[in-house]
Amino acid sequence: VIGSSVTHVDRAFLERAVALARKGWGRVHPNPLVGCVLVKNGTIVGEGYHQEFGEDHAETLALHAAGGQARGSTAYVSLEPCAHFGKTPPCAHALHEAGVSRVVYGGPDLGAEEGGGGAWLRAQGVEVEGPVLSPERWRGENPVFYHSIEDRPFVALKMAVGLDGGISAALGLQTTITGPEAQEEVHRLRAGYGGVLVGTRTWKTDDPRLNPRGPLQPRILPVRVFLDPRGEFPEGARALLNGDGGTDVMGFPPSGGEVVLAVGSGLASTVSTRFGNQVSVIGVAEGPDGLDLASLLTRLSGKGLTSLLCEGGGRLASSLLKAGLVDRLYWFSSPKILGPHAIPALAGLEREDLGDWRVVVAPQLFGADVLTTYDRVR
Ligand SMILES: NC(=O)c1ccc[n+]([C@@H]2O[C@H](COP(=O)([O-])OP(=O)(O)OC[C@H]3O[C@@H](n4cnc5c(N)ncnc54)[C@H](OP(=O)(O)O)[C@@H]3O)[C@@H](O)[C@H]2O)c1
Ligand SMILES: [Zn+2]
Repeated sequence: VIGSSVTHVDRAFLERAVALARKGWGRVHPNPLVGCVLVKNGTIVGEGYHQEFGEDHAETLALHAAGGQARGSTAYVSLEPCAHFGKTPPCAHALHEAGVSRVVYGGPDLGAEEGGGGAWLRAQGVEVEGPVLSPERWRGENPVFYHSIEDRPFVALKMAVGLDGGISAALGLQTTITGPEAQEEVHRLRAGYGGVLVGTRTWKTDDPRLNPRGPLQPRILPVRVFLDPRGEFPEGARALLNGDGGTDVMGFPPSGGEVVLAVGSGLASTVSTRFGNQVSVIGVAEGPDGLDLASLLTRLSGKGLTSLLCEGGGRLASSLLKAGLVDRLYWFSSPKILGPHAIPALAGLEREDLGDWRVVVAPQLFGADVLTTYDRVR
């Protein structure tokens, strides 16, 4: 419910809390990203964000920063304060005890069993406004936390597309499309996902390692998943060369992460024997267009993955979209022209295969490339 007493100033402070929350990316999942700003007489007296899984919540850090100034302040929290005793005492209690007189929060705590912290605070006589953000916004900020499809992870698809719509200059040709700034952003995005996935032709062409190698060290290394319908993944693949001691483009050593091969169902035992315990092998049923992606995702869910970032190529992207299995698009647009032999990003898709999308994060410039983030409209 959007209260009439929520002002533009309130919204601006709430946006500040949302911006702070984003700083927890890669370090707090599967917890949600949360930021908090305490404001008294129009001035920020304390702020904080959830920085590490299992450690202080945003509200606790903001209260700590504000000290005695918290009394009589308004708390702006990107997500409804928690009300249950978990790893830390509930933030709703902490805010009340510190004398915060008003709480404005962005998104609801849907998982809270006996009502979230909002209801509890209201019952204590604290003025509470929330959820103030639209469902698109709060889902967009914490998509995995709000993901409610139980038999598969939240699936994001990252594509880099040239000005003329291509994803590589020709079939089987490794093509650099985006610049270093965009590539560093891809490494940052990887750090916040439970797994990273690529199609057969992509690993055959690019031999990717798929691990996050940017300045952000992930709390949990993403599982690296390679589609391998015929069991052809080579022993010498770079993804298997962990700890080779070399540094790479980003200046960080390769950091590994479990390697999973998704092979045709009949091949699982042969491939497992070939790799021993170096890789995990998932045998997946085959359909007319290749591996059954829905059952692959269910299997990955069973391994504990709550989110997956697919990094192409075009065919896998098209199959996932066609099957309605993509929740988010990270669309990097580059000014590079790939020419007439380029592989198109979304080949062979009908209008209805694509679904409808909305922009959830304002387009961002990385060097010469633009990243637009879309969420599926369901
Ligand atoms: N610009 C970018 O964002 C980007 C990202 C990644 C890759 N690329 C480039 O794109 C090219 C590769 O893309 P691509 O479209 O040719 O291939 P791809 O999507 O990487 O791989 C497709 C292959 O995966 C296998 N597969 C198994 N089950 C499938 C299913 N259900 N749906 C789809 N594929 C399934 C099939 O292998 P088999 O044919 O072997 O059976 C299929 O041909 C490379 O040149 C690479 O450098 C660009
Ligand atoms: Zn909390």
